[in-house]
Amino acid sequence: MGREGYEGLVKRIRSTIRCKQRREALQRVVDMLHEAVDHYTWVGIYLLEGDELVLEAWKGPEATEHVRIPLGKGICGLAARTAQVVNVPDVSQDPRYLMCFPSTRSELVVPIRGSKGVLGEIDVDSDRLAAFGPEDEAFLQAVARELVAVLEAGGG
Ligand code: SME
Repeated sequence: MGREGYEGLVKRIRSTIRCKQRREALQRVVDMLHEAVDHYTWVGIYLLEGDELVLEAWKGPEATEHVRIPLGKGICGLAARTAQVVNVPDVSQDPRYLMCFPSTRSELVVPIRGSKGVLGEIDVDSDRLAAFGPEDEAFLQAVARELVAVLEAGGG
């Protein structure tokens, strides 16, 4: 994280995605998060479609095979189902974890809560053990709130 800090980055994200179409806004957000925060090795945004999470945008060293995740599966499914943040400091110790990348050590999933329930989530994988703290949770929750406006506005 550079000098702007998490608060500055939320502001920059807000002004970047204003008036953008959904797909472009989501891609800009994952690009900015990945670029700005060192320990965010892979960043994705999944949106809820029926009983499935569908990967809409991602940025990182490689693609994941988990482009559709049923609500009951993985850390991602858990966060969407419960509408709660899930912070896993050591993925090797969590039986719910669905492996994407062998290098991942920890994962943070933050639901995007709309006015009528969960719209999707921000999923961040880190190659560092226990990479995510309360400040990452609060930061990504603020980013998720910015995304609600884009997602509830409709349009592609
Ligand atoms: N690890 C996730 C699956 C998605 S990948 O991290 C991109 C999970 O356990 O749900």
